[in-house]
Amino acid sequence: MALYSDKVMDHFRHPRNVGKIEDADAVGEVGNAVCGDIMKIYLKIENDIITDVKFETFGCGSAIASSSMATELIKGRPVSEALELSNKAVAEALDGLPAHKMHCSVLAEEAIKKALLDYYTKNNIPYDESIFAGLDEEIESHHD
Ligand code: FES
Repeated sequence: MALYSDKVMDHFRHPRNVGKIEDADAVGEVGNAVCGDIMKIYLKIENDIITDVKFETFGCGSAIASSSMATELIKGRPVSEALELSNKAVAEALDGLPAHKMHCSVLAEEAIKKALLDYYTKNNIPYDESIFAGLDEEIESHHD
């Protein structure tokens, strides 16, 4: 059996939503200290709907495929649904990732959560802190 599914290979070779949104409403950046990979997610949000999403990932093939799939899964969806996106759902949508590559999908979940935390913070929207437990508190775009 091939190590990577056809979907992983497809999203790695032809990633969707790559790039940056200059006037993003929210940005989230996370990294994995062990492998050194970095993922950044940009969101445009209108009336609580994610109207556009782009990503920049400096990382392995699974991280790129995970970012690509994750952005496809949240595009056009309400913020509340994006908040519920788990790394497992990303991996499942990719028809699975090898066990030692599951952490790559965790980066995608965390980058989206961090961008949504940025959105809540910037707009003074109250949120349930437990949803963001485990993410580090620093939102780069939020420094003066
Ligand atoms: Fe670390 Fe893939 S090896 S994100």
